[in-house]
Amino acid sequence: MKLLAISDLHVGYAKNRELLAEITPRPDDWLILGGDLGETDDHLRWVIDTLGPRFAKLVWVPGNHELYVHPDDKTKGAPRGEARYQRLVDICRAAAVLTPEDPYVTWTGDGGPHLIAPLFLLYDYSFRPAHVAEQDAVAWAVESGLLCSDEMLLDPHPHPSRQAWCHARVALTEARLAAAPNLPKVLINHFPMREDLVRLRWIPRFSIWCGTRKTHDWHLRFGAAVVVTGHLHIPRTDWIDGVRFEEVSFGYPRQRPASLTADQCVREILPGPPGLVHLTPSSSSGTSSSSSGTSSSSSGTSAPPAPPSEPPRA
Ligand SMILES: [Fe+2]
Ligand SMILES: [Fe+2]
Repeated sequence: MKLLAISDLHVGYAKNRELLAEITPRPDDWLILGGDLGETDDHLRWVIDTLGPRFAKLVWVPGNHELYVHPDDKTKGAPRGEARYQRLVDICRAAAVLTPEDPYVTWTGDGGPHLIAPLFLLYDYSFRPAHVAEQDAVAWAVESGLLCSDEMLLDPHPHPSRQAWCHARVALTEARLAAAPNLPKVLINHFPMREDLVRLRWIPRFSIWCGTRKTHDWHLRFGAAVVVTGHLHIPRTDWIDGVRFEEVSFGYPRQRPASLTADQCVREILPGPPGLVHLTPSSSSGTSSSSSGTSSSSSGTSAPPAPPSEPPRA
């Protein structure tokens, strides 16, 4: 019984649906879905209907794309912001898919026990250089020709801004994690949880839409064994402070080698790579010795290589 993960399925692309429809059933294993499955309710339902029967359990977190509401739909009264998120949660719950609104579950399969914590945290434009003020962050990105679709399509209602929504989610989630059982945790969030994991060679200023500095030390504060994220469309494995950070994006068809299958993009989270030592809660508290940042990637998992030249569009 393994814990697996994949994110950024973007099933609006026919090629992605075609590949995902061929994914091998693994009825004993759980599958984490790390957000950006698509843009519509039907996209989410397609994923649940297609992958749900092939795995023992699905665990879901939202990406930015799921929260999009087209302006035409908004004028017709379509749910937006918090209401849009709640609608997605309801769709998941109707299919017994775990969401960030459900109690954290203890993983008792291979590599356990671990606490599985799906999170929804958004971003707050804090992944920016010190000389750029928060209110100038979007203009700073636009200067380099970048404007994330979120600015038009991700409505934070009833929060006054996406930053405010992010900070509300961070506060709520911090309290839940602080009160959670003292087990090694699998933290799951669509957005990278540390700025040093956002390495966007071609579009560096896209970083402002990629996370919040408020989660920089959560892997240590909350005893994470693994942090699972997507959004960057650059699948890789990093080790920081002895904690494994897994970027598990499937991404857009043009970002992958044509021969790559969906099975090859599914990452094993637990028990994890061979030879991995699973830390107990008491031993994991002393692992912060190397705070010098990323100790570089180990690409020895089932991750495909990062696309060499294609800029991500998360
Ligand atoms: Fe995303
Ligand atoms: Fe994405």
